[in-house]
Amino acid sequence: MSKLLRNRLYRFFIHDATFYCYDNCLNYFPPQSVVLDVGIGNCTMIQDFHPLISDKKLQIHGIDINRHYLSQCGDMIHRFHLENQIHIYHEAVEQFRPPARCAYDFILFSMSFMLFQNQQAVLNRVLKWLKPGGRLVFFQTMFLNHSRFLDFLKPKLVYLTTVNFGTVVYEDQFKDFLRQNELRVIEDKMIKKEWYRGEYRMIVASPSRAMMPGTAKAVSVQPSAPEIQEEPRSGGRVP
Ligand SMILES: C[S@@+](CC[C@H](N)C(=O)[O-])C[C@H]1O[C@@H](n2cnc3c(N)ncnc32)[C@H](O)[C@@H]1O
Repeated sequence: MSKLLRNRLYRFFIHDATFYCYDNCLNYFPPQSVVLDVGIGNCTMIQDFHPLISDKKLQIHGIDINRHYLSQCGDMIHRFHLENQIHIYHEAVEQFRPPARCAYDFILFSMSFMLFQNQQAVLNRVLKWLKPGGRLVFFQTMFLNHSRFLDFLKPKLVYLTTVNFGTVVYEDQFKDFLRQNELRVIEDKMIKKEWYRGEYRMIVASPSRAMMPGTAKAVSVQPSAPEIQEEPRSGGRVP
């Protein structure tokens, strides 16, 4: 499938959610924040939010596994002259390593957390990249009622739309996951009601001090989750 068609389908199916995601998250970040956007996609958001990114002097590192999306992302960065503020990397979060001496004020999962096979391993990994006082931001559609129909349908939408929507996120399970990991919810914003009692939500969570790297507790977090081996960079920065 051509890059153009793939990007058009993507825009058609998730433009609404993308707009709400970046509208809320970019407005939430204080000026000069350093942000890691996990699953930055094709950056159509730049069209709407480039003045905000520039005015706030945000530094954004975007990672994604899809080189077609990143190629369009690169075009958008260039078109809106954001080369000094948005840096993109063709890398999975499971392999990415932040540039030397870089730590983040915010790590944003912009509709990506439900796509990971081992969410626990990803969480353990990214916590090491936060500055002290740094926060995780999850933007996702959350469902209130469990449904076998949804569980069946959602992972299959990729075949109809080319966009991977991942598994269903249920509010109770997600909140349990945060609690088990001693992540304190400091903001939980309902942004829009969706079909099937789904809701776009922005959830900001802060790790307890005990969960930050370098503390005894952090080392023993969730021993059942396998630690991902560091591998040499497979992708790297996209110029
Ligand atoms: C639903 S899209 C959202 C894209 C963008 N944040 C937006 O709101 O328009 C999720 C993105 O996560 C990316 N992704 C999936 N698995 C990933 C992984 N393991 N590491 C990094 N990115 C990943 C996908 O390629 C996709 O671009």
